[in-house]
Amino acid sequence: MDLRERHEHDVLVIGAGGAGLRAAIAAKEAGASVGLVCKSLLGKAHTVMAEGGVASALGNVRPEDNWKVHFRDTMRGGKGLNDWRMARIHAQEAPDRVRELEAWGALFDRMEDGRMNQRPFGGHTYARLAHVGDRTGLEMIRTLQDHAVHEGVDVFMECTVFRLFTVDGRIAGALAYWRPTGEFVLFRAKSIVLATGGIGKGWKVTSNSWEYTGDGMAMAYDVGAELLGMEFVQFHPTGMVWPPSVAGTLVTEGVRGEGGILTNSEGERFMFRYIPDLYKEDTADTEDEADRWAAGDRVNNRRPPELLTRDVVAKAIVAEVEAGRGTPHGGAYLDIAAKRDPEYIKAKLPSMYHQFKELAGVDITVDAMEVGPTLHYVMGGVKVEPETAETAVPGLYAAGEVAAGLHGANRLGGNSLSDLVVFGQRSGAAAAESAAAEEGYREIQEDLLEKTIEEVIAPFGRQGGHNPFEIQEELKNVLGAKVGIVRTADPLQEAIGDIRALRNALKACSIDGGRAYNPGWNTWIDLRSLLQVAEAVAMSALDRQESRGAHTRLDFPDSDPELVKHNTVVRDEGGRMTIVMDPVPSPPEELRTLIDEGV
Ligand code: FUM
Repeated sequence: MDLRERHEHDVLVIGAGGAGLRAAIAAKEAGASVGLVCKSLLGKAHTVMAEGGVASALGNVRPEDNWKVHFRDTMRGGKGLNDWRMARIHAQEAPDRVRELEAWGALFDRMEDGRMNQRPFGGHTYARLAHVGDRTGLEMIRTLQDHAVHEGVDVFMECTVFRLFTVDGRIAGALAYWRPTGEFVLFRAKSIVLATGGIGKGWKVTSNSWEYTGDGMAMAYDVGAELLGMEFVQFHPTGMVWPPSVAGTLVTEGVRGEGGILTNSEGERFMFRYIPDLYKEDTADTEDEADRWAAGDRVNNRRPPELLTRDVVAKAIVAEVEAGRGTPHGGAYLDIAAKRDPEYIKAKLPSMYHQFKELAGVDITVDAMEVGPTLHYVMGGVKVEPETAETAVPGLYAAGEVAAGLHGANRLGGNSLSDLVVFGQRSGAAAAESAAAEEGYREIQEDLLEKTIEEVIAPFGRQGGHNPFEIQEELKNVLGAKVGIVRTADPLQEAIGDIRALRNALKACSIDGGRAYNPGWNTWIDLRSLLQVAEAVAMSALDRQESRGAHTRLDFPDSDPELVKHNTVVRDEGGRMTIVMDPVPSPPEELRTLIDEGV
């Protein structure tokens, strides 16, 4: 068998974004030997696409802020489907995790008095996002990777894990291949933390880069974990819409946090027409009031409607375009030049300034940007225990975007970066503790390894089969047209059929050339995961017969009060992907009161 390279670690972390790096550091601090495997190069993770800031109730800018307000905002943003225990842990622990990043060298922007500055973001009651201009995720990754490397974590880059193994019901290892050579490598581990991120590459217009193909979710599902809330896929309201080669590239919510406004082709600041009942009390309903807030008047703290939650803003932009009031390239105008002077824009949003100048020839200190929704994030993912991030498979943990529960039906901007460090830390510590209780490494059967390798090299032995790139393109067409920002039963049903047909076609692909840096083969392996996860998304979306948060059904336009009690769970039953409804855990009375009545 072609498997010469083997490694052993107490804890193996798969994925080197914020969650994976923080998990690796925590496991190392707990005394475990740690391997960190990433598909790409270290430092290149979707974490960098959370640009505008990390949410934590530090109370620097607004002393009234505290974990209770953050908890309430997160639960309201998630439209009641969040796991309240995760939301509480997240709100309580985020400030410590952020201060720790600062202690490890992250250079956050500061206030006059030297404390970390915080900026407003959608759905957050107070200015809460600690930030580094508009490069916050990048600074966090830089800090965490320096720290992880100095802690002595073993890093394996350009290495794609494609299969997990359990032995006697517990996780035992993972099989991967080196992208540069196509050689296989086995990692045996006592615990594994999945931190593989999301699924954005299933859609054409996305802020995600090539790595985000649902690998962690598919691999976890294959060994018996469950997937929760997969219908909740987030379209960030503001991606670039022009030129086509960069469509989908993120335009940070920080632009609106710094005062940017959204207008339509008629020059109307349209968001005032889209304020949902839930946020009526908290949202300015005239331009005058919104402008006063932006200028620093916080008497009523009613925020501009551009700072409503992402689900609301994204759908409003789509509605404006459909009503014929879109921009020439099918979006809305995002204007910061109208509200801030050039020096301020360049200081607070340097990446946006360069991005538009270089990619679109637009000077954002003078002209408005054209923006529209871009697939950015998935709230659904692997179901985990709130305290430890352990999945249903003993010894297997999941943290960050690959995991579900914290964000419910819609994530607030900035809550992803805090999620990564809070649950990254918890998962790494729990994985190390669990590994320490294991006697030794479990033996994975050699014939199983051999069979798994034979399966993934099978396309090289075929002639005249399907081309993986065509399947990839077709999947994007199907998900874009039938499982997009708004959904209806018939197209969803068709999408499930289409995806199943694509899964069959994938089995009959043929691939030319050798295994070293072979993009066709790499895509084929990624598609095995992505198609599986896409099926879970379409099935969950068909099953949830209501509109809630990021899931909008044109045939069920209202939220159903009964369905706030249920989460959609995808599980394997005898080889069949099956949907069940799981009860949403109900918060204790004192937290219920916080959510309903404010704090
Ligand atoms: O708009 C942004 O900067 C993205 C932040 C996030 O997704 O949390």
